[in-house]
Amino acid sequence: MVNIIIDGKEITVPQGVSVLEAALQNGIYIPHLCHHPDLPELESCRLCIVEVQGREGVFTSCTLKVEDGLNICTKSEKIDHLRKLAMELLLAAHPEDCSTCPKYGRCEFQTLIQYMEVSATRMRTRVKGFQSNEKNPLLIHDMNRCVLCGRCVRACNDLRGVKVLQYNKKDMETYVGTLQDKLLKDSDCCFCGACAEVCPTGTIRDMLNYSPIEKRDTLIPCEATCPVRTNIPKYLRFAKEGKFAEATAVIHEKLPFPECLGRVCAHSCESKCRRGEVNEAVSIRDIKRFAAEHDNNKLWKKNSKHLPSTGKTVCVVGGGPAGLAAAFYLAKQGHEVVLKEAYPRLGGQMQYGIPSYRLPREIVDKEANYVKEVGVKVELNTRVEKPKELLEKFDVVLMAIGTHNGVRLPMEGNELNGITVNTEFLRKASMGEDTGIGKHVIVLGGGNVAFDCARTAKRLGAEEVHLACLEKREVMLADDEEILQAGEEGIFVHPGQTFERIVGDDKVTGAAFCNVKNFYFDENRKAIIEKEPNSEHIINADTVIFAVGQRTAINEDAGLKLGRGNSIAVEIGKSAKTSVEGIFACGDAVYGTKTVIEAVASGRAAASEIDRFLGGDGDISEVLAPEEQKLSNIGRIEGFGYLRRAKEDIVQADKRKNNFNDVNKGLCNDDICSEAGRCLQCDLRFDITKHRVWSDYSISNEVEVNKNAN
Ligand code: FES
Repeated sequence: MVNIIIDGKEITVPQGVSVLEAALQNGIYIPHLCHHPDLPELESCRLCIVEVQGREGVFTSCTLKVEDGLNICTKSEKIDHLRKLAMELLLAAHPEDCSTCPKYGRCEFQTLIQYMEVSATRMRTRVKGFQSNEKNPLLIHDMNRCVLCGRCVRACNDLRGVKVLQYNKKDMETYVGTLQDKLLKDSDCCFCGACAEVCPTGTIRDMLNYSPIEKRDTLIPCEATCPVRTNIPKYLRFAKEGKFAEATAVIHEKLPFPECLGRVCAHSCESKCRRGEVNEAVSIRDIKRFAAEHDNNKLWKKNSKHLPSTGKTVCVVGGGPAGLAAAFYLAKQGHEVVLKEAYPRLGGQMQYGIPSYRLPREIVDKEANYVKEVGVKVELNTRVEKPKELLEKFDVVLMAIGTHNGVRLPMEGNELNGITVNTEFLRKASMGEDTGIGKHVIVLGGGNVAFDCARTAKRLGAEEVHLACLEKREVMLADDEEILQAGEEGIFVHPGQTFERIVGDDKVTGAAFCNVKNFYFDENRKAIIEKEPNSEHIINADTVIFAVGQRTAINEDAGLKLGRGNSIAVEIGKSAKTSVEGIFACGDAVYGTKTVIEAVASGRAAASEIDRFLGGDGDISEVLAPEEQKLSNIGRIEGFGYLRRAKEDIVQADKRKNNFNDVNKGLCNDDICSEAGRCLQCDLRFDITKHRVWSDYSISNEVEVNKNAN
């Protein structure tokens, strides 16, 4: 340590630091711009100049190292004059329209102008005349606003080692660009965003605008979109290094079924993945699946928390993803949990809805049974009709009964023989029972469940399967991969159809449809359907399956207030409390049929709320994965922006359409690390030291206060 004096104040600082760092660490503000604590010094702005007692001239404090006894003066007439000259140079070509800059209010340069009390307009002497470059994905380059502090160039070259940005010259004007002014993607940019993060002006900035509060969610949208907010960049980095136990532990911090979700998650993360703006989104779901399948260490189990017994009892009704998740976390909070499931196996829609060719049952059984490992007592084949009665034995009852009743549209012929509904059909197929379908099947509906029905019917021996829905092909509700695979399996898909009536006397012989000309919802969310005139036609069939929605199997006799669509009434998104004190509800039963991951999120939220209700702190969070050593120097990868998304290995249609064997083998071994390496690591920029403005430094404030007082 060495002792120095700055503006009369004696301070002790570590050897080797610069005077600027020493001052800032001790709350003494010295204006600076090109300096950034994570970057090598460039000494280009000269705003940080100071005088040293006993030495001639001025020195840039960002490069001047501390020495024992050094006596520094940061403010004098001479310094003020020279700083204003330096500022004049920086401002000479900077646009004066701060208020139109998207970074207005967050601009570091703007705060400096205010601090130094200079007039930006007076100092502006020329216009650079560059066009704002918005041809790149994610980042905008507006070189008119550049003050050549060089932070972006150093961030790209020294901090990240990507070496894309450099100084170029055009018409005597220096600017930051790429070699031969190529597009970032063609220059091997990795789109990590470090350049935008360190830019003190609005020169290099994110395409999307955001407030400081929205910044993380905007820039890491995969995590923000995930209903349980899995730390996706972190597990992708572990997967890239082949550390699958660590990757799985990260996933387990937020959800208990990574293998199931690695196959059937709705993967909204991928739809928002910023890599998709560059070329194609990262195969996040497949990487999750691969990591979980190759977790040979079960680190998450070793680090799993289990709080001491609270003596409180909870009965969870329903063993689907919401109930299982809630039971799992409540047991870990120390509560005694009994889970009652109406059917013979755990898993809910994962067991009796989603067909086994998409989600093999041994995986559901394995992950559902994790609840037993944490102490949940499971009672199968146990249907609960009167949840209130359970309160005599349990402190809390949680209704997670899902939506197991299919919906029959109110239309002519809907009671004919040969008609069934999605839930019943899929459940019977899953249980190996006779579904009663014939050889010619029509499925009414266009969501994933409708496709599950159609593809299951095909596998059960139907010779001809038609699927019809109201929506046009481009806006059909099912995932693209479902529609594609169904087509490959020979299912006839008829988008843009109205369901007119079911045809037949006693038994179904077909269904009548009209072509939809226009279909939309009006301002009152009422469906408006315009039919094509004279387009009615009939498709022959001996079986019709309604796949147009499903509802909770509950009625008023249960003693709970019911809401829209026969759901259990709760304040959705706010509380899991039902109309009866001590009875909670979560999952599809409260908000209608959604995805497995949303059910897990709902189960987690209910567990947290119930824990609080029972006297706990509601904190179900866990740290299961080790801290990672993030590499800030990610290096250059040739053709990074063009690396294609790895493809899943899908079994050929003729080999899969007649059986219930697994159709998707996932990503192959050779692809997994490189696919994870396609991640832009959007979270990495949050490790860059955050910029502080002059008002963040206490002594400078005091000086300003005193100055104003005088
Ligand atoms: Fe020292 Fe720019 S901060 S020269």
